[in-house]
Amino acid sequence: MRYRRFGTTDLEISEITFGALRFVDGAQATNDEELGRRAILEALDAGVNTIHSSYEYGTRWALEKILAQHPRRADLHHIIKVPSPDYADPAFSEAQFRDHVETALRELKTERIAIVQHLQRGVPKDIIYDERGDPVRIGALQQTNAALLETALAMRQEGKIGYVITFPHTHGYARHAVASGAFDGLIAFWNFLETEMLDVFDDCEARGMGVFSMRPYLQGIITDKRARRDALAGDDPKRGAAWDSQYKLFDKIQAELGTEISSWSDAAIRFALSHPAITSVVVSLNNPEQVQSAIRAIDGHTFDRELIERVRALSR
Ligand SMILES: NC(=O)c1ccc[n+]([C@@H]2O[C@H](COP(=O)([O-])OP(=O)(O)OC[C@H]3O[C@@H](n4cnc5c(N)ncnc54)[C@H](OP(=O)(O)O)[C@@H]3O)[C@@H](O)[C@H]2O)c1
Repeated sequence: MRYRRFGTTDLEISEITFGALRFVDGAQATNDEELGRRAILEALDAGVNTIHSSYEYGTRWALEKILAQHPRRADLHHIIKVPSPDYADPAFSEAQFRDHVETALRELKTERIAIVQHLQRGVPKDIIYDERGDPVRIGALQQTNAALLETALAMRQEGKIGYVITFPHTHGYARHAVASGAFDGLIAFWNFLETEMLDVFDDCEARGMGVFSMRPYLQGIITDKRARRDALAGDDPKRGAAWDSQYKLFDKIQAELGTEISSWSDAAIRFALSHPAITSVVVSLNNPEQVQSAIRAIDGHTFDRELIERVRALSR
């Protein structure tokens, strides 16, 4: 395993962060418990030292069981999602923030959450990823940050948390959140088909802020298994209309880069680590073979700026 320093902090993070959304039966996945258990143990054995989880994933029950007995649990770093204000809330709530952290400390069998992933929702769920929500969310940013920083500082002094990063949902909010100076880093979707945050990553680099890139395979499509849509089984959900625009763009990217890429599964992981601000890629790995594939892909050969710009240009 290779490790990178998270921004200008003292955290050394494995280039792979284990994303706990799908590895066992939960809110968004149905995966065999034993298979998922073997996947995470294999990842930890290989040197993965960071786990990304959320109370919303419905998979903490499995993490709790595994971590309770894990010999390295004191050495692991946790990233947890903490929304405040949540969708229906008017403002940040210290009680809500503390409650999420305290619950995670108990469930993850740890004394400290290394990184809190803050989500400033405060608009209805159906527009959270839409720029229509930006005026409200950006308008409330300064007030939210003031309350957030006060609570985070207190919890840091209590030894319960380390750093706070923002999950911005939209590009517009991301620019303001990074420029606000309130956050130690950023976490955002970043893969061959989702490159919208490029200029925000540049800004993070200039400010010494670390970045976690997320969903390198775009939920499994940027892989050798699913790169050719016409080869998928007839009932594969990725054949559904909801995936049309993603495959349209992926086809363009494959036409442009096809001869330069020998494995999309490998390239997806390397691309996810291909910006100087990026510390680690948060990825769902559901069985030992997927863990081995992701780890094999980290060979130090990231993509250069010219390729990233070419990929970015295709999605405009
Ligand atoms: N808002 C948020 O904070 C937020 C939102 C989304 C995700 N996340 C985080 O990001 C992590 C990753 O997100 P994600 O699961 O949506 O996307 P992802 O990591 O891009 O895709 C994961 C899926 O790819 C497939 N896969 C993995 N390795 C493969 C391989 N070698 N070959 C072929 N397929 C492979 C698996 O599906 P199959 O087993 O079905 O093949 C797996 O479920 C999550 O675990 C979570 O921690 C956070």
